[in-house]
Amino acid sequence: MALYILFFQLCVAIITLPIHILAGLGLWDPIAKRFMPYLMERITKNINKHMGEHKKELFRTLSDFKGPSGELKVLELGCGTGANFPFYPSGCKVTCVDPNPNFKTFLSKSLAENDHVHFQEFLVAPGENMPQVATGSMDVVICTLVLCSVENIDDILTEIHRVLRPGGAYYFFEHVAADPSSWNYFFQIILDPTWKHIGDGCKLTKETWKYLERAKFSDVKYKHVLAPFKWSPVRPHIYGYALK
Ligand SMILES: C[S@@+](CC[C@H](N)C(=O)[O-])C[C@H]1O[C@@H](n2cnc3c(N)ncnc32)[C@H](O)[C@@H]1O
Repeated sequence: MALYILFFQLCVAIITLPIHILAGLGLWDPIAKRFMPYLMERITKNINKHMGEHKKELFRTLSDFKGPSGELKVLELGCGTGANFPFYPSGCKVTCVDPNPNFKTFLSKSLAENDHVHFQEFLVAPGENMPQVATGSMDVVICTLVLCSVENIDDILTEIHRVLRPGGAYYFFEHVAADPSSWNYFFQIILDPTWKHIGDGCKLTKETWKYLERAKFSDVKYKHVLAPFKWSPVRPHIYGYALK
């Protein structure tokens, strides 16, 4: 890695030194897990306001994946505060999974505001390992702004593929690495070592589309878009769906 990059990473680390010290002592993680739901509640309002049209376009086809019984069984991974519920079709049955139990209260709030969603249960588990969810039991799996925080993306994609029924779909909406020749990428690189603590494991420079393309889905369709937050390190996004 170029020396000037290391220099700027060090500058950011010095400014945020207390966070790095707490992380080194193993004390930061529980703090991040507590404040993440509050942070996400604010951030997702902004995301839905500015990226809502993209989400509407993405989720427009959800009902096409209703199972033979006419029901739509949805598994939302890394559900967070339930930011996607407003975009779900009426009557769909949603099971929520998140490794952070502190989201539960926020999820309940979102469910109260979105009574068109039929909530099934909240499972505290990482998306890479969900033995509670039966193989081939879901029509649709939804994951938004989650893969950035997942250590092993190949593992979570394998698990998503397992729980989907044949012909089911995985819908994704993720922030990703910027064009390596851009200023945005430069900011992502220098912020990354600190951002992962602030964002509870979130990495800015993941080329997530590469994992999706090599996973064992039969068809993957997605597009790259830029969020209208000019200097934000989470500006570049991809969204689309993959079929089993
Ligand atoms: C940035 S938040 C996004 C929340 C929500 N999906 C949204 O779009 O607002 C990331 C979420 O992923 C969850 N998460 C982190 N690692 C995960 C994993 N391995 N499996 C499933 N969810 C995970 C976090 O707890 C958090 O709820």
